[in-house]
Amino acid sequence: MSESILSVLDETRVFQPPYNDRTAFQSMADLQAIQQEFSENFEEKWRQLAEQNLQWRKPFSVVLNESKAPFYTWFEDGALNLSENCIDRHVQQGLGDRTAIIWEGEPGDVRRISYQQLLDEVCRAANGMKQLGIESGDRVVIYMPMIPEAAITMLACTRIGAIHSVVFGAFSSHALRERIHDAGAKLVVTADGGYRRGAVHALKPKVDEALECNCDTIEHVLVVKRGENPVDWQAGRDVEWRALLDAQPAQCEALALNAEHPLFILYTSGSTGKPKGIVHSTAGYLLWAHLTMTYSFDFRPAEDVFWCTADVGWITGHTYSVYGPLSNGGTTLMYEGVPTYPDAGRLWKLCEDHAVSVFYTAPTAIRALIKAGDAWPEKYDLSRLRVLGTVGEPINPEAWMWYHRVIGQDRCPIVDTWWQTETGGHMLVPMPFAVPTKPGSAALPLPGIYAAVVDQEGEPVTEGGGLLVITRPWPSMLRGIWGDDQRYIDTYWRKFNHRYYFAGDGARIDQDGYFWIMGRVDDVLNVSGHRLGSMEIESALVSHPAVAEAAVVGRPDELKGEAVYAFVVLKQPATENLKSELLKHVTQEIGAIARPDDIHFAENLPKTRSGKIMRRLLRDIAAGRDITSDTSTLEDQQVIQQLRDQP
Ligand code: PRX
Repeated sequence: MSESILSVLDETRVFQPPYNDRTAFQSMADLQAIQQEFSENFEEKWRQLAEQNLQWRKPFSVVLNESKAPFYTWFEDGALNLSENCIDRHVQQGLGDRTAIIWEGEPGDVRRISYQQLLDEVCRAANGMKQLGIESGDRVVIYMPMIPEAAITMLACTRIGAIHSVVFGAFSSHALRERIHDAGAKLVVTADGGYRRGAVHALKPKVDEALECNCDTIEHVLVVKRGENPVDWQAGRDVEWRALLDAQPAQCEALALNAEHPLFILYTSGSTGKPKGIVHSTAGYLLWAHLTMTYSFDFRPAEDVFWCTADVGWITGHTYSVYGPLSNGGTTLMYEGVPTYPDAGRLWKLCEDHAVSVFYTAPTAIRALIKAGDAWPEKYDLSRLRVLGTVGEPINPEAWMWYHRVIGQDRCPIVDTWWQTETGGHMLVPMPFAVPTKPGSAALPLPGIYAAVVDQEGEPVTEGGGLLVITRPWPSMLRGIWGDDQRYIDTYWRKFNHRYYFAGDGARIDQDGYFWIMGRVDDVLNVSGHRLGSMEIESALVSHPAVAEAAVVGRPDELKGEAVYAFVVLKQPATENLKSELLKHVTQEIGAIARPDDIHFAENLPKTRSGKIMRRLLRDIAAGRDITSDTSTLEDQQVIQQLRDQP
């Protein structure tokens, strides 16, 4: 258990929500009232919300179909188009001139894209993709910097029914290849490069490398020029974005798609080696992306500037940089670069320059900025901020308090949102003007969401910790794992006999019914809010010729939440440069985010008599604390001492 979690256990502070007479949810009573409506008629309430908040081409008659559970479907006989909901409907309502996207590049270049301009560009991109042979149901991999074209490509895919799969630009060519291969993608959309820390970070060469083998399904690579860095050009395969789009009409009929049409695949780490392609559907996902903007952020499309700092390579970027704000007809800010470039004031400068009113980031970013000192935020005018959100990992109370006091100036509610790639949108959230907050707690389930903390048998626990489960289906739940139905059942549903969705997190509930997330209970690490599988990193290490065996665990880290700690057994004695070689190797196999912070060469790994690596014990050793786990099943008791002796 990390230090931050220990301090959470002692946390008793409660902050009352500020008064706000313009929000739909002004008190706990308002939240309870809508929850009551759900409890009285679950499907009817979802029906109303889906009818009122989305524009349908064909109305649905069925709300929830549970007959093939756990393969639930929502609104299954309805039809709609996501890009039409995110763009056309606002233009039709006369909002064509409203800014949809404000974008700032790392060097400081700014673009403002209105809803009308977004519509034109998305239509051109959709027509361009059609010209490249993309049809409904085809997979398109997006490997891009944070530039508007990433969002435009996502929306263009949804216009013609193509299924997008965004791969985070910091993943290696090897990781990209695996994802292209698993998705069977036909097209990769990328950029020559993008700006990071003052230099151009090349992307196209990584695509070229990925496509060298195992990617036979790819027919074209569409390349946006951003970095203007020199790149190779493969005739017949590679197509330049501007040249393609300029030749297209700015009208493209949005396809009426079934509510359950797969919208996107997003790869995320699980406890076994291979990343899994989480599949989301069109209507259910969009409905929840739309509603949670109001529920969690009190989002007001006509006046707010919303900034979610996540890259579109992650679920947070999908739902809250792109689809949530745009579905509501609001303004979303996208920023290309790193938060500390050219200095630690960059985020706050962006907030001032673009009058950001709702700001959403990860605890890791907050902790890094705390370290940089209060003088940075104090230099900028943050008075427009009114709601502050956090996501991705437990927030330690110290970081929460700083965010509240220094950034929110004691005025802005702090919204700690718990959710996952699989849930599509927020699940546990203190609704900003209704629910009192406690530093470190994601508070309560949102309206329509039913969560519980249970023991191994699925019985609710009232005291102490347990496992977090979702007890009723919800519209934006994942629809499966791409190409692997069995893994979907095994990972999320088998544990509690198909009764509950098992989230993989430990949690406890306090006397007020507040949820406190304690971190993952499986072998998934959370490094700087990024989800990484220990086994993914282990496989990368073992693929190096010098490595016989590897075990990777998380070690508590003040800044990143968790750091990657690798125990490595070698085939022969270590050479001088081996550690740095291994670090380079993991970077090549997965990406720099998976690079171990510590490599511990070991003679042996602690195993049970049946040969299972005892990770809990390794976690204790990595953290430098006393062994807290039961060692009676350990095959060779000397291993612990050996590991302690050779750090
Ligand atoms: O362990 C939980 C942690 O992040 C995991 C989900 O990771 P991912 O699918 O990459 O999505 C991250 C962004 C939604 C969860 O299983 N997590 C997410 N939000 C929180 C959190 N842990 C504590 N508090 C949170 N607010």
